[in-house]
Amino acid sequence: MKAGAGLFSALALFLLMGAVFTEKPRPKKPTRRPATTRKPSVPRVPARAQPEPVEPTDFPPPILGPPSIFPDCPRETHYLYLQNNYISEVTPDAFVNATDVRWINLANNRIHRINKQVFEKIPSLLYLYAQGNQLKEVPSGLPASLEQLRLARNRISKIPPGAFSKMANLTLLDLYHNQLSDSDLGKNTFKDLKGLMQLNLARNILKKMPAGVPHNIIQLFLDRNNIDDIPKQVYSAQLDYFRDFIHLAFVRLNRNQLSDRGVPKTVFNISTLLDLQLSHNQLASIPLFNGHLEQLHLNHNSIESINGTVLCPINLHESLSDENLAPKLRYLRLDGNHLNPPIPLDVIMCFRHLRSIVF
Ligand SMILES: *[C@@H]1O[C@H](CO)[C@@H](O)[C@H](O)[C@H]1NC(C)=O
Ligand SMILES: *[C@@H]1O[C@H](CO)[C@@H](O)[C@H](O)[C@H]1NC(C)=O
Ligand SMILES: *[C@@H]1O[C@H](CO)[C@@H](O)[C@H](O)[C@H]1NC(C)=O
Ligand SMILES: *[C@@H]1O[C@H](CO)[C@@H](O)[C@H](O)[C@H]1NC(C)=O
Repeated sequence: MKAGAGLFSALALFLLMGAVFTEKPRPKKPTRRPATTRKPSVPRVPARAQPEPVEPTDFPPPILGPPSIFPDCPRETHYLYLQNNYISEVTPDAFVNATDVRWINLANNRIHRINKQVFEKIPSLLYLYAQGNQLKEVPSGLPASLEQLRLARNRISKIPPGAFSKMANLTLLDLYHNQLSDSDLGKNTFKDLKGLMQLNLARNILKKMPAGVPHNIIQLFLDRNNIDDIPKQVYSAQLDYFRDFIHLAFVRLNRNQLSDRGVPKTVFNISTLLDLQLSHNQLASIPLFNGHLEQLHLNHNSIESINGTVLCPINLHESLSDENLAPKLRYLRLDGNHLNPPIPLDVIMCFRHLRSIVF
């Protein structure tokens, strides 16, 4: 994505937001049920720009009983649905002739290991869904062609060096609900992921913000970790953590250990940010934010007062005279703090686009 092309339109972002990290497959009616003896038709491979591919057919019925290794994959297969089975291991023999496979769904099995040679057989793989398994580490030898990698709800506590190397086309990396700690995420872990748009590291055991997150990212989800500090200096002196993120629009840090001490006052003053979620932390004051922010979740912190004059991203008097200058904030959650009504008048005067405030 080139900076010159500008940001996605708000519409595209909201579509993205809706599509992101949904764990359940979309219930989509099949146009026609594939007969069990026939191969399902092979539709076009989804274009790269689409955030979520459309399911080509209905899911096949689950294979009953516990066969532990998937037997083999016929030539010309593009989509391979193996979710909700009892597969415990994936070996290369199954894929000897499967060079055309684009999409493999192995979600909700019992896989504890994916043999490295498997991926040598499937060099055109675009989507690998392996959430809900028993993997202890990110598989090695993943193809550089990958666009989506879903590894949520495993037991991953290790990312081998170079696991994501050369994956410049990866747009989505989902590592939600694993056992990753700070030492598992080196400065270079995500280095090659130049096209990454969505990174989900929520529900791990991080204490620090991950280093080396690619700067094209749009969504960064870090809820339910133990993060207590957003460093002011990461790479060199005087750089805010988020300073070089040119498209960042969605940041979630709900349910961490953030207090005022660990949150530099202006760290969230990011002009591309649309949605900021900081609920269930220990903040005593409201961090400053940009006039473009549309949604702010600060519920269940320790906030005792709001000063609308300080908080207002622009000069209140300018805001009064020109509607277009008014901050874009539409939704604000402040419940579960130590605030007493009424909402201060300067808050209402500054944030004139507010549709909903939960106080
Ligand atoms: C792979 O293809 C070769 C040649 O078409 C064939 O002989 C062989 O049986 C195939 N193997 C599998 C596992 O399908
Ligand atoms: C990445 O995507 C581009 C454009 O679709 C394609 O030309 C290129 O071969 C892909 N890279 C890899 C490693 O597959
Ligand atoms: C916030 O960022 C804007 C640029 O987007 C800048 O003009 C403004 O001074 C910043 N506010 C603070 C309090 O640093
Ligand atoms: C809000 O902050 C401004 C500037 O620091 C101060 O002059 C004003 O008295 C404060 N308002 C309240 C209600 O505390």
